[in-house]
Amino acid sequence: MRHFLKETDFSLPEVADIFTTAAILKSGRGKPCAATPLERQSWGLLFFKKSTRTRVSFQVGVHELGGQPIMLNADELQISRGETIDDTGRVLSRYLHGLVIRCYEHSLLEKIVRLGTVPVVNALSDYLHPCQIYTDFFTLAERWSNGDPARHMESLKGRKIAFLGDTACNMANSFILGGAMLGVEIALSGPAGYEPSAAIRGQLAADGLAPTWSFSTDPGQAVRGADMVCTDVWVSMGMEAEREARLRQMAPYQVNSDLMRQAAPGAFFMHCLPAHSGEEVTQEVLDSPASIVFDQAENRLHVQKAILSHLAAA
Ligand code: CP
Ligand code: NVA
Repeated sequence: MRHFLKETDFSLPEVADIFTTAAILKSGRGKPCAATPLERQSWGLLFFKKSTRTRVSFQVGVHELGGQPIMLNADELQISRGETIDDTGRVLSRYLHGLVIRCYEHSLLEKIVRLGTVPVVNALSDYLHPCQIYTDFFTLAERWSNGDPARHMESLKGRKIAFLGDTACNMANSFILGGAMLGVEIALSGPAGYEPSAAIRGQLAADGLAPTWSFSTDPGQAVRGADMVCTDVWVSMGMEAEREARLRQMAPYQVNSDLMRQAAPGAFFMHCLPAHSGEEVTQEVLDSPASIVFDQAENRLHVQKAILSHLAAA
């Protein structure tokens, strides 16, 4: 049985297959011949945190693959009244064919994998957001390969991505891991104290991947020559108590039009959303022709369907 908790849970050839499948599912969406690999299956979507894109794209995706999605908000389950995650995981895996989980500690996902008997998908933890990162690279590959799936992977190799702001968050970690896998340079720029953690550096080493990331407190240096500039909220879910300090420290790392002008000609802007316009990015950049944030959001559906199809076939 396969699980998808981190970017490196699939090999590079498998990532290429997932991107090709996503392109096929995207162009064939709604056609009668669409494959239904989750036929007669029920998948639970267990969410400990808020979500718009992830929960809806997984619900629609499971349904379109022939399965039944069951939304499980953690605060409506017995877990909110003290039932253990161990018992919850054991019970859910007796009913369901797979679990998509959004949680705080990444170790909860690993625990469910150990206890349960069904595939587990990471729908965001404090540590990583792998469904988002596969989608982000797929969205770029679509553009840079001019829609030719045979060129998806080579179109990414050697590119430079600048990630600004909270360079210690789950999205930054996922870019570090995904970038090393796909041969993409990841130039991080944020305040001192937000350097990549020992955990993510250790993960690269454990996966035998050479680092492709760098860290600088100078946003201009990170953005110079970048083929894509991206950011994420400065206050991730669970970090609300640090809001004031983070807004103050990260203010120099706002993505605005002046900064975008320093990137490579034709550079894209991306953001996993939700965006806090006026904080990590200006509305002008979000609305600019460089911004591909809604293609990025749409592609969550196609890429996650490809991931689920791949897990169902394992
Ligand atoms: N990008 C993302 O995961 O969005 P949601 O939090 O709305 O799911
Ligand atoms: N870093 C953000 C991503 C939201 C999709 C968070 O964890 O809240």
